[in-house]
Amino acid sequence: MEIDSYQIGMIGLGVMGRNLVLNMADHGFSVVGFDKNRGMVARLNDEGQGKQVCGVDDLDKFVSLLEEPRNIMMLVPAGAPVDSVIQSLLPYLDHGDLIIDGGNSHFKDTNRRVKAVAEKGILYLGVGISGGEKGARFGPSMMPGGSPEAYQRIEHILEAVAAKVGDEPCVTYLGSGSAGHYVKMIHNGIEYGIMQLIAETYDLMKRGFGLLDNEIQELFSTWNQAEMKAYLMEITAAIFEEVDELTGELLINMILDEAKQKGTGMWTSQDAMDLQVPVPTIDIAVAMRNLSAMKSERLQVNHQMGDPIARTTSDQSWMIERLRGALYTAIILTYIQGFSQLYVASRFYEYHLNLDQVARIWRGGCIIRSALLEKILSAFKKKPDLSNLLLDPDLGGQVLAGFDDLKTIVASAVEMNIPIPGLSVSLAYLQGFRSAWLPANLIQAQRDFFGAHTYERKDKSGSFHTQWKVLEE
Ligand code: 6PG
Repeated sequence: MEIDSYQIGMIGLGVMGRNLVLNMADHGFSVVGFDKNRGMVARLNDEGQGKQVCGVDDLDKFVSLLEEPRNIMMLVPAGAPVDSVIQSLLPYLDHGDLIIDGGNSHFKDTNRRVKAVAEKGILYLGVGISGGEKGARFGPSMMPGGSPEAYQRIEHILEAVAAKVGDEPCVTYLGSGSAGHYVKMIHNGIEYGIMQLIAETYDLMKRGFGLLDNEIQELFSTWNQAEMKAYLMEITAAIFEEVDELTGELLINMILDEAKQKGTGMWTSQDAMDLQVPVPTIDIAVAMRNLSAMKSERLQVNHQMGDPIARTTSDQSWMIERLRGALYTAIILTYIQGFSQLYVASRFYEYHLNLDQVARIWRGGCIIRSALLEKILSAFKKKPDLSNLLLDPDLGGQVLAGFDDLKTIVASAVEMNIPIPGLSVSLAYLQGFRSAWLPANLIQAQRDFFGAHTYERKDKSGSFHTQWKVLEE
């Protein structure tokens, strides 16, 4: 339905952009969409029939149909396409117009863009949007950051379209600059970690315990309850029910074991390294996607060395219970790592994040939504400045209760020769924090030995250097 002017515009009418337009229209907002691809425009006009929605393939027309000051959202692939949309828009925009990037942009790109458009008096918001196609259509979790003034202008739209938990919308203003895209990046890092942990659990069930696909389906489905209720658990159970139309086999068994990625998990790890925050479960999740993709090398090494998988001899139902505890504990540890990175990043990048609000808006709509986020939310409500959730008595207690399960599973997976690096580094993360002493004194000594980098002492403050005994060549 074409009207004279629209409240908001959307550039990029792929499935995410189109669904978000329809979601906005369902809530009574008028939206004009633009895409160069006429097929996409036609699809929006078709699906948007009877709503205050209009798709166009002409940028002039798109801009002329917008109410002023203009609100324009982009949902285009991260990277160069975002810059090119901004460049093509700028000649049309006036002081006070607003550009909203709803994609998975790198937070450093968002910082650069915020500054560049501000010079022209244009407002900018970087909004992380999670929930996939369905989320965009019926209620995503939204993580906005950037100009507070701009947020106020579109707050009512975002609150209307976001997922709701009770009557609370899963969106709130997070902070200035790239705060929203940073929080979305960490969301994805946690997503990578949990996906890796669930995949390892599947491997243990399949190759370690010899369970059948329907038994695996049943386990994930029963685990998806109470404290372990989570969207990623739910979709995992559903995946094990899907039959392949081509072969009649279970689809999961027809899918190649090489994981792809667009890079947001890697960005989380890269920035964690820059900030010197340990997030080993996320790091290893990225590394294992990379390793999985090296299929031809894996096959060559497998051919040379074999793959001596041995099944567990322990009681199966006892082991399954241990596995449930191990998975839950490692998942808690993954969220803990993600939030500890947010804690440090918030200070370093001056986002001034309220971590309770991050937990709150992740409880619905997004990929990592889970019952556990309620506990995380109450931990930050009690102590907003908690640097590490291991220090929260409730979450710390949960992790401690699962410690033995995690240890049992890691030890037995090593015996079985099943790679479970996510579970194993999650355990090491916890063991590392539980250790009042770590062998880092030796690392200090080695650095001083070969490079005179100095070391600190237990009994005196300051830096010290020793003339270590010269080694004979
Ligand atoms: C979400 C997802 C979404 C996307 C990921 C996939 O929150 O809705 O995280 O953003 O599906 O980017 O990431 P990879 O392609 O890197 O796995």
